[in-house]
Amino acid sequence: MMYQNVRKQNEEIRELMNEFSAKMVGFYNNLHTKPVGRPVEKETWEHLEHQQIPENGRPLKEVYEEMQRDIYSNILLAQHPRSFSCVPSTASLLSWMGDVMTNAYNPHASCKINAPTADLVEKKLIRWMCDRAGYCEEAGGLFVSGGSIANLTAMTAARDTKLTEDQRSNAVVYLSDQTHVSAAKGLHMIGFGKNQIRIIAADEEFRMDMDALKEAVAQDLQAGRKPFAVIASAGTTNTGSVDPMKEIAALCREYDMWMHVDGAFGASALLSGQYRKKLDGIELSDSLSWDAHKWMMQTYGCSVVLVQNQDALVRSFAAHPEYLKDAETSEDNVEFWDLGPELTRPARGLKLWLTLQTLGSRGLGNVIDHGCGLAELAEQILIEEKEWEIISRAQLGIINFRFKGNGTKTEQELDVMNQEIARIVTESGFAQVFTTKLKGKKVLRMCTINPETREKDIRDTIERLIETAGKVQNY
Ligand SMILES: Cc1ncc(COP(=O)(O)O)c(C=O)c1O
Repeated sequence: MMYQNVRKQNEEIRELMNEFSAKMVGFYNNLHTKPVGRPVEKETWEHLEHQQIPENGRPLKEVYEEMQRDIYSNILLAQHPRSFSCVPSTASLLSWMGDVMTNAYNPHASCKINAPTADLVEKKLIRWMCDRAGYCEEAGGLFVSGGSIANLTAMTAARDTKLTEDQRSNAVVYLSDQTHVSAAKGLHMIGFGKNQIRIIAADEEFRMDMDALKEAVAQDLQAGRKPFAVIASAGTTNTGSVDPMKEIAALCREYDMWMHVDGAFGASALLSGQYRKKLDGIELSDSLSWDAHKWMMQTYGCSVVLVQNQDALVRSFAAHPEYLKDAETSEDNVEFWDLGPELTRPARGLKLWLTLQTLGSRGLGNVIDHGCGLAELAEQILIEEKEWEIISRAQLGIINFRFKGNGTKTEQELDVMNQEIARIVTESGFAQVFTTKLKGKKVLRMCTINPETREKDIRDTIERLIETAGKVQNY
């Protein structure tokens, strides 16, 4: 595009982005009044499906308006205060602002020479997060796109630290039946077969059962296998349960296994005065995944992988191509490209820096306390309801419960009814509540971590669930 045209277009961008900023503030201020999600209209879908990439461009304003109408307005609002499914987004406009600024400057945050100040700030954040986790001086890590990649990165370091190439095919790793699916996916990606992954049953409180874990390790040793890692969870996705950190760490030390903690969801509780103690023992782990885009108010994708000894990441990922020699600053400076799979990477940490500098660590700690408190409120309300049962008590902002009726329905009928309740309330757009399966039962799950969620949102949503159960019962 000719220079003059670019300047003209930039003026248009200025106008549209001014308008967009105002619109976004209004949008975030009024999330309560919007449906959490709504079905995409048939015409919109068909229009998008038939749309082609034009040979000649179109006016920017037209494209901007069309994208707002057809694409952005039809996206489920994970950051809605009554979005309770999966791990809802806690994203704030502060993070968005940091994202916009970072993207505009577009730092190539792979190494110090390309973006020295961004590099310094991300390293300071990583050190600060290591300190929160109680990691030692040699600890380090990297901002990555999400918990799945954090788990993958940590498990690569675990494999390369604990196993020789010859030992890999005989090695086994232990997860629980509540471990997030990304752990097994990552293990598959780095070459471990299904027969090398032991799924340990969780106990009554959805924590890895230590007796079962010890038994599995003993059996593998007896069979001549090489136990090399345990993946513990600090906040499972289903229930928010925290595996017994200290016991797992002790077992790992005894058998020279790597202890990884998947704290993608729950590690943010390290920032809470009230809930920090639930994670005691996390400091004994070898690595930790921690998603800032889950409970630290960040837009996607902002996560860290931390390791107790940063050299482990360097051993797995450092590569020194000739064309990057000039960008290596010094012997002792570790470049981000040496710590993970990516070469070019955005400075994912800068938006978190902006958020933390503005709200302070206590501000984020309060977000954790608020989210946990709301799940506890939901528990109190549901305990009073005779036709409902709590399947998993409030833990780190997650509660699971179930309509059980007056005792006349079979388990299968109740499964269908609970599924229907979730579907009807979710399709209404008022709130989003999904089901999960616990102890063989279909249950309703609410993750209440959004700082914009008020007590009234919890009360109103439970009221809707109860009303809907009444209707479903009479089908
Ligand atoms: C405990 C846990 N680990 C890992 C992940 C995967 O994280 P991401 O979706 O950021 O890749 C999730 C996602 O919900 C999770 O809850």
